[in-house]
Amino acid sequence: MPNFTATAPGKVILFGEHAVVYGQPAIAVPVTQVQARATVAPGIGLPSGTIQVQAPEIALDSPLRALPLDHAIKQAIDLTLAAVGVAQPPAFKLKITSTIPLAAGLGSGAAVSVAAVRAVSAFLGHPLADEQVNAIAFEIEKIHHGTPSGIDNTVVTYAQPVYFVKGQPIETFVIHTPFTLVIGDTGVASPTGIAVRDVRKAWEADKGGYEGLFDECGRIASAARRAIESGEAGALGPLMDENHTLLQAMGVSSPELDRLVQAARAAGAAGAKLSGGGRGGNMIALAREVDPDRLANALMEAGATNTVVTTVGHR
Ligand code: MEV
Repeated sequence: MPNFTATAPGKVILFGEHAVVYGQPAIAVPVTQVQARATVAPGIGLPSGTIQVQAPEIALDSPLRALPLDHAIKQAIDLTLAAVGVAQPPAFKLKITSTIPLAAGLGSGAAVSVAAVRAVSAFLGHPLADEQVNAIAFEIEKIHHGTPSGIDNTVVTYAQPVYFVKGQPIETFVIHTPFTLVIGDTGVASPTGIAVRDVRKAWEADKGGYEGLFDECGRIASAARRAIESGEAGALGPLMDENHTLLQAMGVSSPELDRLVQAARAAGAAGAKLSGGGRGGNMIALAREVDPDRLANALMEAGATNTVVTTVGHR
């Protein structure tokens, strides 16, 4: 049996994070410069039926059966075995590596799930279709993030820009004119599930106030889609700034994120905002009339621990 390898990209949310959990539209794009990779190899030398899971970046090297039930990689394998209808798989080794920073709002959990499901199902001779891969990755997101919208697993599975509304069919859309983003990492780990839970508590305490904020985010996301489809890149920066202000009002920004957002604007970004769950993780800045490397340097000087330059819509 040969080895099977699958990859899945990272992602950034351009507009509408958090509000998307409450039914508003959001826009997310894949970030192919970072990715998760899963390789399945036959378990030569392993006792029959043993599945060995290795993820060197998190110092994991364990038989599947010794992993806790709620371990995301265990769930990815178990749900895949159930989906392909294989109760007694041959021994195999699953190795996961990833260049997507953990707990940084770049979709690392979803990408690991998607890559693992694809590699394991292909190894077992039943490669799953994107729709099934996406459904399994969503199940895993639910166990770890409580009430996710499904946007992360969707953009990572399809590796295309998506205009996402929870519970509705996936919509991709045309990017009229490519645009360049600089992604800046605060270096502060912030699991998405915690930010999502805190927003839920705040919404429960002030439904009217929070729903007003979510509605505004939805309006911004649909205006941004129109601007992206018609090539009015000039409109995007101000919409990013507005979205950041709303996320601050939701309580999901942080001093580190605000510092990077300010530094990007001061260095000439057309707009900047936090991206993903917030509280830490990453922010994005739009480089229109400024060299993206100059913006990246400004972010590093303001304390970013890493930057990635990515062009959206570039083929
Ligand atoms: C995380 O990338 C996006 C959030 O809106 C959570 C979700 O949609 O599941 C914060």
